[in-house]
Amino acid sequence: MSAAALIALDRILVILVAVSWGWAGGHLLVSRKAVPGGHPQVSREAVPGSRAGSPRAAGWAAALVVIALVATAVRLAVTVALAGHGWWFAGEKALLALPLLLPPALAAAVVSVPGLLRGSFSPLVVLFPLTSAYAAVAGVVVAVGMGYPLSPYLSVVLTPAVLGGALATWSMLTRTGPPGRRWRVAGAVVVAFAVAWSGLSVWNARLPASLRLAPGGSVDVTALRGPPEAAPESGPESGPASGKVRRFTLTAKPATITLASGRTVEALTFDGRSPGPPLRVRQGETVEVRLRSELADRGVTLHWHGYHVPNGEDGVPGLTQNAVRKGEEFVYRFRADQPGSYWYHTHETPNRALRAGLFGMFTVDPVDPVAPEGFDEPVALHTFGGSLTVALAGSPPADGFATRTLTPGTPVRLRVANTDNGPHTLGVSGVPYRIAAVDGLPVAGRALRDERARLAAGGRYDLVFTMPPRPVLMSADGVGLLLTPGAGAAPAPSAGPLIDITRYGSGDVRAPERFDRSYTWVLDRLVALRGGVPRLSHTVNGQVWPRVPPALVKEGEWVRFTVVNRSGEPHPMHPHGHHVLVLSRDGAPAAPVWMDSFDVGPGEVWEVALRADNPGVWLAHCHELTHAAEGMTLHVAYDGVRSPFALDGHNHPE
Ligand code: C2O
Ligand code: CU
Repeated sequence: MSAAALIALDRILVILVAVSWGWAGGHLLVSRKAVPGGHPQVSREAVPGSRAGSPRAAGWAAALVVIALVATAVRLAVTVALAGHGWWFAGEKALLALPLLLPPALAAAVVSVPGLLRGSFSPLVVLFPLTSAYAAVAGVVVAVGMGYPLSPYLSVVLTPAVLGGALATWSMLTRTGPPGRRWRVAGAVVVAFAVAWSGLSVWNARLPASLRLAPGGSVDVTALRGPPEAAPESGPESGPASGKVRRFTLTAKPATITLASGRTVEALTFDGRSPGPPLRVRQGETVEVRLRSELADRGVTLHWHGYHVPNGEDGVPGLTQNAVRKGEEFVYRFRADQPGSYWYHTHETPNRALRAGLFGMFTVDPVDPVAPEGFDEPVALHTFGGSLTVALAGSPPADGFATRTLTPGTPVRLRVANTDNGPHTLGVSGVPYRIAAVDGLPVAGRALRDERARLAAGGRYDLVFTMPPRPVLMSADGVGLLLTPGAGAAPAPSAGPLIDITRYGSGDVRAPERFDRSYTWVLDRLVALRGGVPRLSHTVNGQVWPRVPPALVKEGEWVRFTVVNRSGEPHPMHPHGHHVLVLSRDGAPAAPVWMDSFDVGPGEVWEVALRADNPGVWLAHCHELTHAAEGMTLHVAYDGVRSPFALDGHNHPE
């Protein structure tokens, strides 16, 4: 069974186990009262075949205990199977939840079932199923609130709680009248301890009004900037290609945009457009973008998704700059050395502002071979007001199919970017095509015929083919682009099989033989203390932003990340300022591919390698931005880099 299926099954089982033990224990308590002689004031001994007691009740209780035992055994088997997929999937179950549950459950099997079959409701017969019920409830708390690794806070509360519950139950079952003083004191101590410990963990999780993530270090992110403004006498066109400066100004403002269908949507835009103005430059040129804001209700920044800009140009509020507020401006400058398909977007409250439209395409044409040729266009897939659209530069987003007429023989490159929060599935019908680049970097792969590929949130695929003498349809989840020579019927959207992008490329990219450091990110859906309040969150190693410990790296190192998804949804992970080389997916070695947004599916384990060659303090997060906002955000910090910026009332990079 797949890890994802086992995780889902375990979620059901943890509830079933708690309900079945709770039912069995509760039934025993009730039945015991009804059995004369079952009560300790009469006798502590079992009352075999008590005439007044109901043998039916005892039989039924035995059946309930057996049901709970079966559920427990299945859960044990599922945990073992999960451990077979990796210890990350089973650790806290194997080390805490099951060790609390198995001893009383085993005792219930050995003592309670035979006892009940004899009709006995002795204290021991009742004690073990009840203790199993406490442990099973603790198991629910572990499942809801603790991922991998084991959380000391919860372990320290749950273990004494179950033991204390068992002792209190024993005292209740064996004594007459109210519990003795010793028991009351012991109970009070346990409760006081649990309350104090929980209070301490909440206190620890609270956030100050202003938090600096990288306060120490000798290099300031404000020094890690692009080239200084060129001296006027050097001129924008003088010198080598790299001497040319391309200047743009983008103004963030609210606007009403009109989709191709005529539907209007209230959006947040750059220059009144969404997608914003396409920025297209040639490799080697210097890009200078002046960002201005007319937004009254929030700040704005420009983040160059996937582009290896100097850290100070990365556009992360609270880390590399302060969010630009109304009337302010910020100038981004960097050399466009990487050719390829990229995009830009705001990183201030991106889950609302990017989704509402603050993004645009950024394309860098190579100098060798000189591009573009033929029909070479960025294509954004974005959901506006609940409708998926396909947007080509210069035309309104099409909430349906956009059409272009092309001469047969024209080389076509569609630079498709998924600017949405979830994955989209792309296909081309009517012509064989290749995926020529993934996340801006070239890949060499076979021709695809009616096959499809899933594109992660934030990711890009360059789809390449030669226009045939008949119509071609690029489709994605019900929208698309029809390219037609002017006549002929449109082909049906591709419905072919999905390829695995980690097995698509060929050629050789050498992964290092050894890594200087390794990190594991276990992604989960848990109740966590977010801003000091327990809330359902998306966690990394059981923690939420900004409390997830950063990955520390040194310039020049190769760093391996093992990313494990224990949740039921895909997590398109996106480290800023770097691409990662995919090493393996679920243990299967990957074909050479570098990505900046890689979709870790439910139950999957990805190993990726990062070359630490761009010093700074870099955000890394899930590009399902709801997840990022609910905790799944952290940072990669280079040794010795300091940031003077803080997370405060104005800066919300998540
Ligand atoms: Cu596309 Cu942190 O961003
Ligand atoms: Cu996610």
